[in-house]
Amino acid sequence: MAESFAPIGIFDSGYGGLTVMKDIVERLPAYDFVYLGDNARAPYGNRSFDTVYRYTLQAVQWFFDQGCPLVVLACNTASAKALRTIQQQDLPKIAPDKRVLGVIRPTTEIVGNYSLSAELGLLATAGTVASDSYAIELAKFFPEVKLYQEACPMWVPLVENNEHLKPGADYFIRQHINRLLEKQPKIDTILLACTHYPLLEEKIMSFLPKGIRLISQGPLVATSLADYLYRHPEMDGRISKNGSQCFFTTDDPLDFQRRSAIFFGQPVSARKVELA
Ligand code: DGL
Repeated sequence: MAESFAPIGIFDSGYGGLTVMKDIVERLPAYDFVYLGDNARAPYGNRSFDTVYRYTLQAVQWFFDQGCPLVVLACNTASAKALRTIQQQDLPKIAPDKRVLGVIRPTTEIVGNYSLSAELGLLATAGTVASDSYAIELAKFFPEVKLYQEACPMWVPLVENNEHLKPGADYFIRQHINRLLEKQPKIDTILLACTHYPLLEEKIMSFLPKGIRLISQGPLVATSLADYLYRHPEMDGRISKNGSQCFFTTDDPLDFQRRSAIFFGQPVSARKVELA
């Protein structure tokens, strides 16, 4: 039996995780959700492993304090740099009955199916690329698929500052697409391995040669989470299901409300929290 309020926690360094949450809520509308964006300390993409781990662990602890039995790190950088340590070292000590999932495994389990040439491109933050987490996970599920990675350090700041659709952004977007395709012209599928990048989808498509498929993670993560809950009825039964969603930010809630719409499809009001 679920406790009265035992939501699924969804975490991101900022707004990007809202693109993933949108797909998850569409897929699992009956569940309760709590979203936390660490906007005050975003972006995480260029931060060290230690810092991303420390910030992410603080967020996970906060979700547990809110009563979440399950937390999804809807941030590639946090999934790449913090998830494994939290799962293996911290959870057994602080909350052995709770679970933390990321976005890299659900994506790599499926994404190899999309590439016919077995040459897959990936666009992500510098931190995600440096961790090599995608290459390591993909090799487990699709050893025949080769992965070519390109870090795009300017893209998150462009999106966070709502500059991404302006002509000035084109240079930075083109530059990384060209660099990726120079690594391997036979790439037929490109994964957007950062939660902010779905907002750039149309622009990226307009710069890509015809025939290259672009994959966003939200639907893959949502399908994988639904499958996880189906396979783990003991966890599913602990999560409350009143169809509610609430939102928290470590920065200005009014700012969050104003800017959340482009990520979530509608503005949402948030409350402020301090992480420590
Ligand atoms: N949400 C992060 C990700 O998916 C990108 C934003 C950041 O750099 O903090 O990698």
